Amino acid sequence: MPSYKKIFENNKKWVAKKKATDKDFFEKLTHGQDPDYLYIGCSDSRVTAEEIMGLHPGDVFVHRNIANVISNTDFSAMTIIDYAVAHLKVKHIVVCGHYYCGGVKAAMQHEDFGILNPWLRNIRDVYRLHKDELNAIKDEEKKYMRLVELNVEEQCLNVIKTAVVQRSYLNNKYPIVHGWVFDVRTGELIDLNFNFKKKLKDIQEIYNLGLSKL
Ligand code: CO
Repeated sequence: MPSYKKIFENNKKWVAKKKATDKDFFEKLTHGQDPDYLYIGCSDSRVTAEEIMGLHPGDVFVHRNIANVISNTDFSAMTIIDYAVAHLKVKHIVVCGHYYCGGVKAAMQHEDFGILNPWLRNIRDVYRLHKDELNAIKDEEKKYMRLVELNVEEQCLNVIKTAVVQRSYLNNKYPIVHGWVFDVRTGELIDLNFNFKKKLKDIQEIYNLGLSKL
């Protein structure tokens, strides 16, 4: 059986399983979505969003790209953050990286990756910002793991630089931004304890968009 046909078989079984636990499960989904979470993660096939968090359809709004990068000129990412915060009113935004991220690894290579260059530049910029700490790590694998973590932190900062997040937080005290890492070696989710309140205060010296006057 071609593998894509297996997917339709799987789907039939999944529908039956969902209905067995809640016969109205799909009918309820027609009433709309009200997720508490926006999850921003890597497109890597090993790092699923809902499955690693034990969540279900309707629980989480998802954006995935190579190496969970949030660039302010990425119209897709900016639109997703805006929609999730201003319209869905998510209470939490999670930026989730993962160890052994191919995007982060590529950004550590001195190589021309063609069309990937501008994207990977975002991660090279993270390296530049933290080069003293990273260059002090002699073990290449440890350095790679640390860059994954620092990339998550910097992308969390990029999320809180946006007007929509700052405005919502000032008015509603949400969303809270979290930085996590998925460890593909163990399946474990690790909370990097991104200090949202402190970081927001820190970056407002430069990135305050005048919204505190609201
Ligand atoms: Co990745």
